[in-house]
Amino acid sequence: MRVSTVILAAGQGTRMRSQLPKVLHPILGQPMIFYSIRTALDVTSRKPVVVVGHAAEAVRETVGDIVEYVSQEPQLGTGHAVQQAEHKLLGSADQILVMYADMPLLRVETLKRLIEKQQMSKGALTILTVISANPRGFGRIVRKSTGEIQRIVEEAQATDEQLAIRELNTGVYCFDAKWLWDSLPRITLSQKGEYYLTDLVEIATRSGNTVQSITLEDQNEVIGVNNRVHLAETEKIMRQRINNRWMLEGVTIIDPERTYIEADVSIGQDTIIWPNTYLQKETIIGRECELGPNSIIHNTKIGDRCKVLSSITESAVLEDDVDIGPFGHLRKGAHLAKGVHMGNFGEVKNSYLGPGTKMGHFSYLGDASLGSRVNIGAGTITCNYDGEKKHHTEIGDGVFVGSDTMLVAPVRLGKNSRTGAGAVVTKNVAPNTVVVGIPARAIRKLDESD
Ligand code: UD1
Ligand code: CA
Repeated sequence: MRVSTVILAAGQGTRMRSQLPKVLHPILGQPMIFYSIRTALDVTSRKPVVVVGHAAEAVRETVGDIVEYVSQEPQLGTGHAVQQAEHKLLGSADQILVMYADMPLLRVETLKRLIEKQQMSKGALTILTVISANPRGFGRIVRKSTGEIQRIVEEAQATDEQLAIRELNTGVYCFDAKWLWDSLPRITLSQKGEYYLTDLVEIATRSGNTVQSITLEDQNEVIGVNNRVHLAETEKIMRQRINNRWMLEGVTIIDPERTYIEADVSIGQDTIIWPNTYLQKETIIGRECELGPNSIIHNTKIGDRCKVLSSITESAVLEDDVDIGPFGHLRKGAHLAKGVHMGNFGEVKNSYLGPGTKMGHFSYLGDASLGSRVNIGAGTITCNYDGEKKHHTEIGDGVFVGSDTMLVAPVRLGKNSRTGAGAVVTKNVAPNTVVVGIPARAIRKLDESD
C-alpha cells in the first residue's frame, strides 16, 4: 500500500497573537511543524504534502524541500485544504493520512495503528478519536445505537445532547485515496462559509460505507496548539517524553523538570545531568560525563568522562576527559583534545587545544592552535584582531605561557618556549627560548634540565 500524508498548515493561528506563523513557533528549539513532518516521514517515508496558505512564504523558507507544498488560497476550511493536495497525489497513493501541523505530540505508533486499521477494514476512512471530559472545542463523534460511527458534529453546531458526548474527533484520519478524491467535491458549504472535512463521515455512512476508528487513551498526544498556554503545555510534555527516554537509556537526570534536551541530541550511559542544563541541536554526549548545573550545550560533540560546569559551548568539540568551567565559553570551532582543563572565565574560539593542555583562569584564545601539554597562564590573551583582519597564533608542545601574556597575532611560540608574566609577544619565539617584557625579547635558551 502506498500511503501519503497531508499536513494542514494553512490556518492563521490568530490566537497565538504573534507576528510569527503559528506552526513556526519553536518547541524545544524546533519549529512546531517539524514534529508533524518527522512523524509523517517515520510513518510513510514519502515526502508529506504540506498545505500552506497564511504566511506560506515563511513556512516554505523555514521547512525547505523535505516536504512538498500545495497552497490553499483563500482558506475555505479543512475539506477545501485537503482538496488542494489532490493534484499532487492522485494516482500515486492508495491511502491518505491527514494530520495537522499544530499537533506535535502525535506518536508514530498511533498513526501506524490507524493506517493498519484502515488497510484491514477496506472502508472509506478510519478516524482517530479520543475519550475526554475536556472537549477543548473538538468535534463530537456521533454513533448509532449499534455503536457504528454516524457523523461528526462541530462544537458550534452541536445540540446540548451532542455536546455531552465524550468521544472527540482529533482531526487525524486515514482515507482510502480513491474514495477521498471522489468524495471531497460532495462536501457542501457550512453556515460558517467553510468546507468541513468532517462532513465526509456522514457522506460515507449515508452511502453505506464503513467508518472505523481508533481511540486514544492518552489525550496529551492530540493537544492542538492554539495559543501560548497550549504551547507551554506541549513543550513540557515533549520535554518529559525526551527526558524519560534518556533516563530509561541509563542517563541520570537530577531534576527532569528543569532539564531541556532537544529531540536530536544523543547521550551516553551513566552521564549525569544537573538542573538548568540545555542540550541543543545535534549535540552528542559520551558516557560518564557530568553536565551542569546551569550549562547551555549547543551543537557540541563531547567525549567520555567530560565535565561542563556552568558553561556555554557552541559548535565545539570536547574529546575524552575534558573539563571546563565554571563560567567557560566555547565558541564556534573550539576543539579541546583529550584531557584539556579549562578553568573559570576562559573563552576559546576557532582554536585547537592539544592533549593535556591547561588553561586555568581568565583567558581568551581565538584563531589559535596549541600543541600538547601547553600551560596558559592566568589572563593570557591572543590579540587575534587588528581592527580589520583576524590572525593566527601557533603554540608548540610544552610551551609555558606566563600570566597576563599578550600574544599579538600572527605569532608563533616554538616548542617548549616560555614567556614571562606580562610579556607582550609581537614576534615569533624560537623553540626552548624564554622571552620577557614589552615587546617581548629573548633572554635565554633552555636546555633539557630546565
Ligand atoms: C478541526 C475539526 C474538528 C476537530 C479539530 C481537532 C473540522 C471542520 N473540524 O476543528 O472536528 O475536533 O480539528 O483539532 O475539520 N486549516 C487549513 N485550511 C483551512 C482551515 C484549517 O489548512 O482552510 C488547518 C489549520 O491550519 C489547522 C487545521 O487545519 O492546522 C485545523 O483547522 P481549525 O480551523 O483549527 O479546525 P478546528 O476548528 O480545530
Ligand atoms: Ca484547531
